[in-house]
Amino acid sequence: MQLAGFPFSRPRRLRRNEEIRSLVRETALSLDDLIYPMFVRHGENVVEEIPSMPGVFRYSVDRVAEKVAQVRDKGIKAVILFGIPEHKDEVGSDTWSDEGIIQRALREIRKEVKDIYLITDVCFCEYTSHGHCGVLHGHEVDNDKTLENLKKQVVSHARNGADMVAPSGMMDGMVKSIREALDSEGFTHIPIMAYSAKYASAFYGPFRDAAESAPSFGDRRSYQMDPANRREALKEVSLDVMEGADIVMVKPALAYMDVIRDIRERFLLPVCAYNVSGEYSMVKAAGKLGWIDEERVTLEILTSIKRAGADMIITYFAEEVAGLI
Ligand code: PBG
Repeated sequence: MQLAGFPFSRPRRLRRNEEIRSLVRETALSLDDLIYPMFVRHGENVVEEIPSMPGVFRYSVDRVAEKVAQVRDKGIKAVILFGIPEHKDEVGSDTWSDEGIIQRALREIRKEVKDIYLITDVCFCEYTSHGHCGVLHGHEVDNDKTLENLKKQVVSHARNGADMVAPSGMMDGMVKSIREALDSEGFTHIPIMAYSAKYASAFYGPFRDAAESAPSFGDRRSYQMDPANRREALKEVSLDVMEGADIVMVKPALAYMDVIRDIRERFLLPVCAYNVSGEYSMVKAAGKLGWIDEERVTLEILTSIKRAGADMIITYFAEEVAGLI
């Protein structure tokens, strides 16, 4: 491309006022692109704020539908559900019970709200007594045994009204197993959004408080990705594409913008980015201290994640930005 140099070229001409700036703006944030994460917990008549995530709440099953209706009324089209069950066990059996926390929440929400897209997070860490994302064999997560339980979990979610399932446990072969299980039970129409490049990140800290899902020993580095790796993310995405993923995800978002861009350029599937709990809490904390303009920083972050190449964003900011865009 040839550009005439200064003084013929003056890029500032296109920045003189908001009218011209909006004409040449390359990226637009839309409510159509946002997915709101919600925490459903055991108990009755509970709405409790998560201390490390101001503005984000846990809802008991009987209170969750009214909140979903509220966010739908603000123009949000999709939510992703996380469950906090009353009883945890070694294998996380609540995840595939029809009386499980997510299954009850799905039925309750569906009864009250027809026009919201319900995505379920598919994992075990919130449901196991040890807090790891699958079945343990000694101190290691047994990949293939976990796949068997994942199949039961997704079929149960689909049967109870999930529109899409989002496996987040970083087990090898999880997408293939889930696709086969859904198809064999007649759920060929249910898409899979794979947490394909999910890093072993310290940015999940507040979420683990919110979902009571911190591992009781060790960490998740034997299944989640090393933050230092970029090529490996492409390998993970390639495998998930081959296994039948419909949407691939990068998580977290902000420290991994290069990965979002790489995937956008190399693959044809829609790309989702998860703007995770720690990314939210940092903005909230600095905003509270008066150190940043919280509203502007929020919009800048979400716009930048889209500019990096994300087609959709899972974000705790969804509800509040609904009032801003
Ligand atoms: C696993 C899961 C986690 C998050 C979403 N799904 C936590 C983890 O891997 O420890 C983190 C989300 C966030 O930090 O906002 N079920």
